[in-house]
Amino acid sequence: MHGLGLHTNKIKVKNIPLLVWLTLIYVHFVAPGILNNKNFAPLPTSFWALHPYEDAFWNRVQLAHDRYFNPILHPKYTKRAMNNSTLYESLLKQNFSDVTNLTSIRRNFDKLPQQMQDFVRHMQRRDYPTLLRPDGVCGAGAKDEKEPTLLLLAIKTTELNFKNRQAIRRTWGQVGWVAGYVRRVFLLGKESHEEPSVDSSKLLQLENDHYGDILQWNFTDTFFNLTLKDVLFWSWFSDFCGQTRFIFKGDDDIFVNTPNMVTYLQHQLMKPRAHKTMKDFMVGDVIREAMPNRVSDSKYFIPDAFYRGLYPAYAGGGGVVYSGLLAKRLHSVSKGVHLFPIDDVYVGMCMMRLKITPVHHPGFFTFDLPQKDAEQLCSYHNILLVHRRSPDQLVKLWAELSKTQMQCWDMPLRDAQEKGDKP
Ligand SMILES: *[C@@H]1O[C@H](CO)[C@@H](O)[C@H](O)[C@H]1NC(C)=O
Ligand SMILES: *[C@@H]1O[C@H](CO)[C@@H](O)[C@H](O)[C@H]1NC(C)=O
Ligand SMILES: *[C@@H]1O[C@H](CO)[C@@H](O)[C@H](O)[C@H]1NC(C)=O
Ligand SMILES: *[C@@H]1O[C@H](CO)[C@@H](O)[C@H](O)[C@H]1NC(C)=O
Ligand SMILES: *[C@@H]1O[C@H](CO)[C@@H](O)[C@H](O)[C@H]1NC(C)=O
Ligand SMILES: *[C@@H]1O[C@H](CO)[C@@H](O)[C@H](O)[C@H]1NC(C)=O
Repeated sequence: MHGLGLHTNKIKVKNIPLLVWLTLIYVHFVAPGILNNKNFAPLPTSFWALHPYEDAFWNRVQLAHDRYFNPILHPKYTKRAMNNSTLYESLLKQNFSDVTNLTSIRRNFDKLPQQMQDFVRHMQRRDYPTLLRPDGVCGAGAKDEKEPTLLLLAIKTTELNFKNRQAIRRTWGQVGWVAGYVRRVFLLGKESHEEPSVDSSKLLQLENDHYGDILQWNFTDTFFNLTLKDVLFWSWFSDFCGQTRFIFKGDDDIFVNTPNMVTYLQHQLMKPRAHKTMKDFMVGDVIREAMPNRVSDSKYFIPDAFYRGLYPAYAGGGGVVYSGLLAKRLHSVSKGVHLFPIDDVYVGMCMMRLKITPVHHPGFFTFDLPQKDAEQLCSYHNILLVHRRSPDQLVKLWAELSKTQMQCWDMPLRDAQEKGDKP
């Protein structure tokens, strides 16, 4: 959804005047990577470390939580609380209200932008009830399978984006056998201001009766609530999708080359030691050592009264693929990480807790294909994903993909030089 991350390895910092570079960063991008630039603060070993940022709200509540549940400081208590979710949640809430009552925090709170205040008021809650669920066991396309599902496509969308869903269903989101079973589920909250003339819930229900691929919860579908879709999806996945090997989680305005994705994932399963590495598997457009966006009129604005420090490495820009095993681990670890308003960053925070770094793959195009590549006949054959495509463009691209199948059959996937730390 916020595919505005920027890869420094793609920027030639040296060829761009610093001022222009900084303007680019501050004005246009969420969280530019500042890879290899040691002029900035070093990445903290634990990114929510408090000192010297005493009054950043999120760091503070997270630290209170970590101290309280520190197994070294309170071994017996931690075990008991962790095993009893009622007790655990009530302690979380209590610490949260202790922290929010601190004078320094209260002083800052009033200065936070409205949507941030709204986020903070509700960030303790994540148990929203399910309004609609898919008809298959684990998403549409779940019938008559003899083998475990290879790939579940989990797509974030909103009630009113019916056109996007239709385009996806007809193109890259088709379910069934694509050299391995593929299933699909759309993730939604509730529209915040419904026009009185359209009852979008009724329409969505009809849509689900027909396609059986809707998973909707009763929270307001706003930008800062997107993280709820990840945590609630992990919970649903852990309950219903036992054997599913991989999840592709993406936005509804991207183009995915699903056949390439499937082939790529099958190769991963055939690698030696795959049974060991799968539990840590996450691949995407990885952004490292990013700074929070401090531009107050940006959609991604995170004031320093809310969060201090760099972001952990995270996969940004519209889509990411990870293993089903990892999804279950993310589900458990996320219970101990306070919600953060930017979903990709939150997933990165949970990954850091698991001590896993997502792996970068050059087949994920967060921005767009370079102009010279986009004009080539086979350019969409060697990629995994491109961000920002309209429903009409999806349909056109998909048709072109099959039309050029013959000419482009031997296009290799863009190199996966798995740079950086491998899990
Ligand atoms: C968290 O809550 C516990 C239980 O009320 C309390 O003893 C502890 O001091 C709190 N921690 C912080 C940092 O507020
Ligand atoms: C936690 O609960 C499970 C059953 O719900 C039990 O088997 C286990 O022994 C408990 N662990 C602790 C540390 O109390
Ligand atoms: C869990 O904790 C709650 C609140 O402290 C308590 O009422 C309940 O009895 C506990 N449940 C178990 C199974 O220990
Ligand atoms: C925090 O403040 C609110 C009102 O300002 C009060 O109702 C609540 O009891 C306080 N909580 C704690 C833990 O002191
Ligand atoms: C959904 O939440 C609203 C409040 O936000 C509530 O009025 C409504 O009853 C809820 N619906 C269901 C089905 O839980
Ligand atoms: C998230 O959803 C809840 C439940 O509908 C709502 O009360 C809250 O205002 C929303 N949060 C944001 C930041 O929009």
